[in-house]
Amino acid sequence: MNAIPCLRVSQRHAQEFRKYLQSQGLLDLRFSLQKDNDGTVTLPITPSRVSQLDIQTLKTRVASDCKCEIIWNQAPQQSKSERGRRCVNKLEKILQDLLESHSESLTEDLRGDIPHSCQRHGDFVLLGENCFSLPLWEKIGQELWLAVAKGLGVKRLARMSRISRDGFRTPEVTMLLGEHTWVMHTDNGIRYEFDVTKSMFSAGNITEKLRIATFDCRGETVVDLYAGIGYFTLPYLVHAGASHVHACEWNPHALIALQKNLEGNRVSNRCTIHPGDNRQVRM
Ligand SMILES: C[S@@+](CC[C@H](N)C(=O)[O-])C[C@H]1O[C@@H](n2cnc3c(N)ncnc32)[C@H](O)[C@@H]1O
Repeated sequence: MNAIPCLRVSQRHAQEFRKYLQSQGLLDLRFSLQKDNDGTVTLPITPSRVSQLDIQTLKTRVASDCKCEIIWNQAPQQSKSERGRRCVNKLEKILQDLLESHSESLTEDLRGDIPHSCQRHGDFVLLGENCFSLPLWEKIGQELWLAVAKGLGVKRLARMSRISRDGFRTPEVTMLLGEHTWVMHTDNGIRYEFDVTKSMFSAGNITEKLRIATFDCRGETVVDLYAGIGYFTLPYLVHAGASHVHACEWNPHALIALQKNLEGNRVSNRCTIHPGDNRQVRM
């Protein structure tokens, strides 16, 4: 991949610069922000707009005390949305071939029934319920799931219909391809393992997880009520450096995953799990 122009700023002001660049149409959304070990963040700039970028004006508008400079990133990483777009294109092509081999074609209705987003956990993809609902897909049978897995570059597939209101927030998941239901998800350097049929992964909480990761909690004790599989407990321990976390949770399946994740990320010595109802547990 070719080098791309980026604005390098301190991590502390990165979100303010990102918002400003995006509002001005200067942020290149095909690439992701990259955090460097020296405490700076590089924000990708649309190449055709880089000559219009005036560092002094930018600093005045966003953060005058922040050091910032234009650099060329030799190893840019594709953004999640760009990867998703490419993935959908590839999937459409594979399904088009599959339909043709069944003397069918990819009509607009069928195209609209292809998932445009999904939850990916390592070699596993969880599809939503609003896709592959048309009868023709069912007629194709297992061959369809093999093709979808190939298109998405995974080995296992499942469909989630809804999250149960059972107090455990158990997902209703049907395996479509593969049998093993434990998955591994790596997020901001933390490994989360869980059984997709028993625990939900709160993908929507990513912003909060990243915010916690920037805290300095050395010397502090944290209580995580509704800890689940450790979505917040782990960033507090791994990144924020909390002295100790008390993780409270009542779902027995989530508790198994939580213990596994504490050990997998080598922080179990700084966490006490309190199984049971948060409204009654005493520490
Ligand atoms: C949506 S998850 C939240 C997980 C995580 N804190 C997050 O925000 O991503 C809610 C969790 O709270 C647990 N939970 C719900 N009511 C509880 C209670 N009264 N006592 C203990 N855990 C509870 C559920 O089992 C589930 O794992």
